[in-house]
Formats: sequence, structure tokens, C-alpha cells
Amino acid sequence: MTAIEALVRPNILQLQAYSSARDEFSGQEGIFLDANENPYGTLNRYPDPHQRALKAKIAAIKETKPENVFIGNGSDEIFDLVFRIFCRPGQDKALTFSPTYGMYRVCAGVNQVELLQLPLDRSFQIDMEQTFAYLDSPDIKLIIICSPNNPTGNLIRRSDIIHILDHFKGMVLVDEAYIDFSGTGSMIHLIDTYDRLIVSQTCSKARGLASCRVGMAFSGNEVIALMNKVKLPYNVSGPNQKAVLEALEDSENYQQNLELLTKERERLKKRLEGMSVIKKVYPSRANFLLVEVEDADMLYRDLASRGIVTRNRSKQVSNCLRISVGTPAENDALTDALKNMS
Ligand SMILES: Cc1ncc(COP(=O)(O)O)c(C=O)c1O
Repeated sequence: MTAIEALVRPNILQLQAYSSARDEFSGQEGIFLDANENPYGTLNRYPDPHQRALKAKIAAIKETKPENVFIGNGSDEIFDLVFRIFCRPGQDKALTFSPTYGMYRVCAGVNQVELLQLPLDRSFQIDMEQTFAYLDSPDIKLIIICSPNNPTGNLIRRSDIIHILDHFKGMVLVDEAYIDFSGTGSMIHLIDTYDRLIVSQTCSKARGLASCRVGMAFSGNEVIALMNKVKLPYNVSGPNQKAVLEALEDSENYQQNLELLTKERERLKKRLEGMSVIKKVYPSRANFLLVEVEDADMLYRDLASRGIVTRNRSKQVSNCLRISVGTPAENDALTDALKNMS
């Protein structure tokens, strides 16, 4: 048994993956009478269950190999799969650092896995002293780290993530949904060093393709093979695979968009910082700003009544709103509305 297999739920190890019609014959030409499809129409055929073209493109962009890439129906599918593969319901635990992205808790709950949430420190970094005690707990199978973190917007110190990878014997998932906005490199290259590392990214943020629901996981061959075994056969629709593939060809548009959004983030931050209704704007390495105000519930309602919808995160960080960076006109509409309130 390999070190990874020792971490996998026994039912998943024993599972025989579904073999779809497109698995058994993957050629492009022929008369296809194998999948009970309708012979008429333009969307009548099942898509490639292995998303080969998309994986090849993503692997080239991320400078890794297609066999180290998994494509999920959004990264949310990836989180669910990681719990399903590695955490036994009612027995194993997972650990994350709060405040953080809410879907980790939901995926843990759906899979009946207790999720321990250690509070980040005052700079929204991992409190390593507090964390040490958990690193050799045999019950904890998975640690999830979100960097840049949602909703705080900061990067988690890389040396702390490496320390966790060096000392924790379970799986480590680093969620890099916002990494493109961060101005720093990904941890993808570390999958060659740490076979227990899974890095997830998404096409929903910097790539502007949230509607397509395409998330990516990068890991060693063994983990990727497990994810392929457990996923639903046709987890990413044909039109979505095609749309993402086409969009990924246009790297110029992506670069321009990224530059515009990161510039706008800093412009919006400066404008917000000068306003009397704003107490603090946290630095951000993502495409949103966490903003502390006097009364977040009230401000949220006021803005919503003017048609400006923000995210009230006061339950996670006291009196804080999370504000996505919009177009220059949208950001101006926000700051104009806030001016009228002061
Ligand atoms: C940290 C983080 N990870 C993942 C996601 C979800 O990404 P996807 O659209 O790929 O499911 C979000 C969405 O807001 C997020 O904030």
C-alpha cells in the first residue's frame, strides 16, 4: 500500500470506477450507437469525460503535465471530492483556519466530517504555535488553507504552509482561487515534492468564467487518478469545456483584465480609505476588499436599497463588508453612494 493509499477511505480504494461509453471507445470518427444518445441535434453527444483538450491547455498554461490536472465542476466539486476520498464519515476530522471560505464547512458537513476551525491571528495569518499541536493528530486527515484567503484577502505565509506540508502526514489542500490577483506565484510546482499536496484554482475569478463552472486541481498522479475515479462521469458539460478552451486561447484579454482589476482594486481602496463611513480597508491580494465600518448590517442594507449589493461578512469579521472590485463605473457608483451617506 502506498502512503497515499493509506490515507484513502477503504470504500474508495475498493471502488470500481464507472466505465462510460466514451471510455470504451474514444475515437472521433464512426457511427456512434453506443451511448443511447439522440442522433439529431448539435448538443446531442456526451462530452469527453476526461476533458483531454482542456487539460492539455491548462497543463501548458500552468507548466505541469495533463496527468497532474483534474477538472471539476467548479472548485467546489473538488473540495467535496477531497472529503469523499480521504475522510471517513463520523470518524476522520479536517482542519482549516477561520474566517475562511464557507464551502469547506458545508462540504465537511455533507460528508459528516468534523471540521476544526482554528482562528487566524490578528494579521489573518496561521497561528503556528496553536497549530503545532494538531499536526500529529491521527484523526485529522485533511488541512485546508485558503491563500489568498476569502474573506480577508491576504496571502498566507508560504513558509507556514511549507512547515505544515513538512510535518503533517495527511492531505493538504491549498485553495488558490484568487492567486492570479496576488502578484505571487502558485504552489503548483510543489506537487512534485509533496505527493500529499493538492492545489486548487478556478476559472471563475481572474479568468472571468464563473458561469462555466470550471475548477482545477493540481496534484500527483495518484491523487488525480483517485479524483477521476470518484467524480461523476460527465462532470463538466461540453459547451462549458468548449467555452473555457476558447477563452484560454485569448491570453491577451486575460492579461489586460487582470491588470485593470488589480489597478482598480488599489484605486478603490484609496477612495474608500478617504471616507468617513469607512473605518479600515484591509490590504488585498484578491479581487475584493474587506472593509470595516461602524455598523455593517446597516450599511449593507443602505447600499442594497440603492441597488449596490455587497457581502455582509460581519459574522466572520466584526462589522466588515466584503466588496468585489467591479468596473471603474461600478466602483464609482459605490463610492458616490457612500459619499452621500457620510
Ligand atoms: C476561496 C474560494 N475558493 C473557491 C471558490 C469557488 O470557486 P468555483 O467557482 O470554482 O467553485 C470561491 C468562490 O467564491 C472562493 O472564494
